[in-house]
Amino acid sequence: MERLICVIIGYAFGLLQTGYIYGRLHHIDIRKQGSGNAGTTNALRTLGFKAGAVTFLGDCFKCVFAVVVVYLIYRKTHGDMIPVLSMYAGMGAVLGHNYPFYLGFKGGKGIAATAGLIVSTVNITMVLICIVVFVGIVAGTRYVSLGSLAVVIIYLAEVVVYGQMGGFGVSGSHLWEMYAIAALLVLSAFFKHRANIKRLMNGTENKLSLGRK
Ligand code: G3P
Repeated sequence: MERLICVIIGYAFGLLQTGYIYGRLHHIDIRKQGSGNAGTTNALRTLGFKAGAVTFLGDCFKCVFAVVVVYLIYRKTHGDMIPVLSMYAGMGAVLGHNYPFYLGFKGGKGIAATAGLIVSTVNITMVLICIVVFVGIVAGTRYVSLGSLAVVIIYLAEVVVYGQMGGFGVSGSHLWEMYAIAALLVLSAFFKHRANIKRLMNGTENKLSLGRK
C-alpha cells in the first residue's frame, strides 16, 4: 500500500508542468511550439535560456520534493525502505510529468524529473558522472535527446552498482525493486523519445542552439 501511496505522491508533484505554466504566462502553449514537448529543451528552444533554466529547476525539484515528502511520512514507520519508496515516488513524478491528466495526458519526456531522482538517490560521484556525460554528449553533438538517453542508462547502471555495493542499505527483493524501477525509467525515456530516436537515426534531430533568444 505504501508503494502505491508513494507513486500517487510523486504523480501529484509531477503534475506541476513548469514549462507549460511558464509558456502560458507568456501566452503560448509550449506543446504547440518547437518539438511539441513540455520540457526543458523545448522551453529553451521556444522561450529562451531563462525559460529553460526555470523549467529544468522546477521539473527537477518537484521530484526532489516528492522524495522529501515520502521521507517525512515514512521515516519512522518504514525507515529501512526509504530508498525503495523514494524510487516509487520518483517513478510517480516521471509519470505525472509525462502524463498529466489535466493536460490530456500530454506532458514532457521525464528527463528533468529523473534528474531529480538521480540527485535524491545516488552519491555525489555518481551525480557528477551523469552531469559530465550529459554535458559532454550535448557539447559534442548538440543533441540533448542523445545526452538524455545516455543519462538514464547510466543511472540504471549506477543504481545496480550502488545497490551491489550496499549503498542504499537495502537488500534482496527491495534491491531488485529498485533495479526494476530504474529499468522502467529507461524504457519510459526511450518510449517518450521514439520520435527523437528516429530523427537521430536519419540525421534530422534538432540540434541545441543557445543563440536564438
Ligand atoms: O528531455 C527532452 C529532450 O531529451 C529532448 O527534447 O524537445 O528536443 O524533443 P526535444
